[in-house]
Amino acid sequence: MTGDQRTPHAELGVIGGSGLYALLDGMTEVRVDTPYGPPSDTLFIGEAAGRRVAFLPRHGRGHGLPPHRINYRANLWALHSLGVRQVLGPCAVGGLRPAYGPGTLLVPDQFVDRTSGREQTFYDGRPLPDGTLPGVVHVSMADPYCPAGRRAVLEAARGSGWEPVDGGTLVVIEGPRFSTRAESRWFTANGWSAVGMTGHPEAVLARELGLCYTSVNLVTDLDAGVETGEGVTHAEVLAVFGRNVDRLRGVLFAALDRLPRRRDCPCARALDGFTPGLPGVPEP
Ligand code: ADE
Repeated sequence: MTGDQRTPHAELGVIGGSGLYALLDGMTEVRVDTPYGPPSDTLFIGEAAGRRVAFLPRHGRGHGLPPHRINYRANLWALHSLGVRQVLGPCAVGGLRPAYGPGTLLVPDQFVDRTSGREQTFYDGRPLPDGTLPGVVHVSMADPYCPAGRRAVLEAARGSGWEPVDGGTLVVIEGPRFSTRAESRWFTANGWSAVGMTGHPEAVLARELGLCYTSVNLVTDLDAGVETGEGVTHAEVLAVFGRNVDRLRGVLFAALDRLPRRRDCPCARALDGFTPGLPGVPEP
């Protein structure tokens, strides 16, 4: 697909909330079908920082899809089929430490999966739909996020005057409900940093396609085990996200500019030994 000038192409991808795609120059809207069904929405492809970027609204336009109904496989496959190799995944999270209050920007280096029942692999015993890989592949997830992507986001945040938290563990819950105080205190007692609902299986599926993935967490609230009030509300999450979306957009666009043009990270080699290379994701 990528060699054909008539087919849409992008090298970088952002999966995130609406309000982020509006700044792409020369934007075209592209409908992508996948062997896993439709992605969350049409994709928006345009130029940012002189590079082709595909933006996908994770929850669909109008925020109609709750975290447990998102077709994560279709979303990652759609980006991959456009040629995307590096993905930024911004999302709202709850802070699990008093120091990580609303407005904190956290770039985690680990996650813990507390979801259930989500389709979380492309390798379920049948060869990949494009025939490039066998049905059984075990990728390493020891370090789930791209080190180069994390560096790009951290530098971009610092450059904008927003001091980010460098590293930490994101625990991903099934949702759509928020956590009980007991669950939340347990997360904190384990030393985890933030809690969200969409961080898994995005990172895993990206790795399974040999893509770089960087999780970017905007803290919108202190989770129920940390704060002493009534607990988290959806309205609070939306309000804090809305107040920070401009800053976040600035950091993401600066980070896109800093992403390496030639990948030299372990993510690019995640599928070595299983196949010499994935069509649709060529190295420049
Ligand atoms: N997203 C934003 N805040 C959250 C919280 N406290 N728990 C889970 N997901 C969230």
